[in-house]
Amino acid sequence: MEKKLTVIPGDGIGPEVTREAVKVLKAVASRFGHRFEFDNKLMGACAIDATGVPLPGDTVNAALESDAILLGAIGDPKYDNNPAAKVRPEQGLLQLRKALGLYANIRPVKTYAALRHLSPIKEKHAENTDMVIYRELTGGIYFGEKKLNEEGTIASDECTYHRYEIERVAHLAFEAALLRRKKLTLVDKANVLETSRLWRSTVQEIQSQYPEVKVDYLFVDNAAMQLILNPSQFDVILTENMFGDILSDEASVISGSLGLLPSSSIGNKALFEPIHGSYPQAAGKDIANPLGTILSAAMMLDHFKAHEEAALIREAVDWTMQNGFVTRDIDSINFYFTSTVGDLMAEYVANELPVKINKRNIRMGHVTII
Ligand code: IPM
Ligand code: MN
Repeated sequence: MEKKLTVIPGDGIGPEVTREAVKVLKAVASRFGHRFEFDNKLMGACAIDATGVPLPGDTVNAALESDAILLGAIGDPKYDNNPAAKVRPEQGLLQLRKALGLYANIRPVKTYAALRHLSPIKEKHAENTDMVIYRELTGGIYFGEKKLNEEGTIASDECTYHRYEIERVAHLAFEAALLRRKKLTLVDKANVLETSRLWRSTVQEIQSQYPEVKVDYLFVDNAAMQLILNPSQFDVILTENMFGDILSDEASVISGSLGLLPSSSIGNKALFEPIHGSYPQAAGKDIANPLGTILSAAMMLDHFKAHEEAALIREAVDWTMQNGFVTRDIDSINFYFTSTVGDLMAEYVANELPVKINKRNIRMGHVTII
């Protein structure tokens, strides 16, 4: 297989975590005889610094010409507390989603036995969590008209949905449910919002095309509560853009580490990114967890139908966790560096790992020395 990949490292820890994912993809290429071409491009605060805009045209063009995009994270605190900033790193990501027509954002959430003690909710509740959130990504309040009156005293963001926008992501969610536990939960606020009522009627209609899937409906406030009280009840969650943004962050902490969760955004192209942010406090320290990005690379391989390769990456992730080769967010005493975890993963994937590995030498950076 030959693939052209656009890599957008972004800001903060983005460059560190994407570097490790690229390392692992290179190991996959060498083991399976694939050819991946990597092309690094700018987006976010680093792009504003270099070019004045958060999404340079050159990045969009490269993304449009590539087979898939791997993204680290974007965002910089210098913009967060400045509501007056006209140019913001996040605009880059929103523009890219629109330019590539990435209408569905898919976020799987599951727990790992080795990490269950880190979950903020009781182990017995967290235990069997295994859900996937289908978030609509190019519509709703994120993309509606934004207004601020001249006096700066009244603001509004319009929330609009077209039926076709709901249908296309709903079909993806139903198809995913068919391959899983066949349960789909639509999350909305249909007791208040007109757009939510359109979501509900559209999904109710589509439902008849998937008779095997059991559908239920939850208001978003209740869903936020149910995610904490009983997360294992969920299989596929389908929801609109902003509810999906909020609920997926909430769901992500159930696993015990935000650093572990991957995502894909699908549409005219496919983009893969960890769900965590740019974590600026950790930038350059080699302490960020690269697994969310590495697992996003596995989702990319699944997208290319390279299922064996993707499964091998997941096996390597399980292996690093079972052996305690984890970053500081998971074990604050016996932790390994971002780059060491990436090296180990790459060696596991390339099948170059000695059977017996010496943990002390690994910590010193000598990965393969026994
Ligand atoms: C996400 C992020 C983005 C969003 C921001 C960075 C615009 O939070 O991917 O979830 O809100 O969609
Ligand atoms: Mn978010």
